[in-house]
Order: sequence, then C-alpha cells, then structure tokens
Amino acid sequence: MCILLRSILIAFTVFLVNATSHSTRDFIGSGVVFADPLNPLDDHLPAGDVTDSQADKTYESIKAALVESYTKSPLPVAGLYNDWRRYNTTPYVSEPHGGRLVNDFANSVAADYGRFEIETQLPPGSVIAMDSFRVIPSCLPLSITADAVQHGPLFVMEKMKSGFNTASGDWRFSMVMADGGLFGETKGVGHDRVEFCANCHQSAKPGQDWLFFPPKDYRISGESEDQVAQK
Ligand code: HEC
Repeated sequence: MCILLRSILIAFTVFLVNATSHSTRDFIGSGVVFADPLNPLDDHLPAGDVTDSQADKTYESIKAALVESYTKSPLPVAGLYNDWRRYNTTPYVSEPHGGRLVNDFANSVAADYGRFEIETQLPPGSVIAMDSFRVIPSCLPLSITADAVQHGPLFVMEKMKSGFNTASGDWRFSMVMADGGLFGETKGVGHDRVEFCANCHQSAKPGQDWLFFPPKDYRISGESEDQVAQK
C-alpha cells in the first residue's frame, strides 16, 4: 500500500489508541507519538529506498537543521558531535534504531572506536553519537511531489567512570528526540525508557565494550593498530 495512505491509517489508529489509553500516553514524549509502545524506536515507517549518494546528498542538506534541533536538548554533546570524526562513509540504514538512516560520530577520547572489532575498551569520557533521519518516498511521481525527509533521534553512548552502572557496562545511554526533547538517559530523566538500549548493546561480542560499529561496507578505511598506537 502507498506509504502515505499507510501513514494516515497508522496515525489515525495511534490517535484512537491515545484517545482511550493511558499506557500509550506514557510514550508521548515532546510531542512525539510512538505507534508501538513496546518498541519506541519503531514507528512503522520505512527509511525509504534511496541510493548511498541520495542518502548522502539528503543528509548534507538537512544536517544543519538536524543539529540545530538537537541543540535544544539539555545534552551538551548534541551541539558538539557534528564536529567530531565520522566513522561511516555515507548514511546507512540501521534496523535496530527504527530502520532509519544513521551516521556514527565519536569524540577524540573515543578514537579507538576506529579500531572497530579489534579488542578494545574505551576510556571514560568517550562519547559516540549517532544521528538519524528518514526519507519517506512520495506516493506521486517525483515531478509532482518530492520525497519527504523526517528528522530522527540522536542516540548517544557516553562512557562513565567505573562503577557508574554495571547494568549498562558503565555506559550512559541517552536518546534525544528530533525536536530536542530528551527521551531518557541512563540514571537520569527517563532512565527506564532507555534500559532497552543497554539490554541490546550488552549482546555485543565480548571484548567489544558493548559496541557494534557501523556495517563493514560503510566504514571509513580502518586504521591499523600501529596507526592507532601512534596517536
Ligand atoms: C536491538 C538492538 C539495539 C537497540 C535496542 C539499540 N541499539 Fe544502538 N546499536 C545497535 C547496533 C547493531 C548498532 C551498530 C550499527 C547498526 O547496525 O545499526 C548500534 C549502534 C549504536 C551506536 C553507535 C556505537 C556502536 O555501537 O557502534 C550508538 C551511539 C547507539 N547504538 C545508541 C543506542 C541507544 C542510545 C539506544 C536506545 C535508545 C540503542 N542504541 C538501542 C543495536 C541496538
């Protein structure tokens, strides 16, 4: 079914559910309504079937606006991450983060993130931020209406001091909504809402410090251990 019709149907269903249910209301954060309360990352919209170069062009065109919205959040990282090193070549679709197109950035303390699967523990102060967006294909021929672009959340992992929270591997997981609202952060506002982040990230391979890294085809060319050691 055409995406637009599907979206209208979903929006209407969500409206009806919200009108009657208190439990779903709990998942309305910063004006955002999630279709599936059990999986807040899934709002049932596809990322759009775009080529890498289209994804890249789209990202370049929305980047400034995306950062501006995130910057409204209380997280200082939201306004800083855009200057950090990006570890993927072009935006790629991340199924676990709602099937959105995403980019991975890490600060200089987290430089070892670029070793990818080579065994590593990132030091406290390491921050990895992943921004996201979605291209929603138009129902009509492109000459009539353009595809829509929807901003997505900013996903953040910050390595805290040892003992911060063993249940999250001493990582503080945070999620900032597209409008800058803070959905939740480990041991802070909305702690329960982001527990599912740690539940999944703890399944990363041993020695990978709860990290999964970008898919191999999208990584910037890897650094050898020697190059990393020279830093
Ligand atoms: C169902 C599993 C799953 C859930 C839930 C999940 N993630 Fe991820 N996350 C991944 C995977 C897999 C990757 C690697 C990139 C990719 O394939 O999407 C990743 C990558 C990341 C990265 C880049 C660092 C890395 O591991 O390479 C950040 C930051 C991140 N996730 C934050 C979050 C936050 C914050 C939440 C919760 C709001 C969350 N994730 C929920 C599986 C998950």
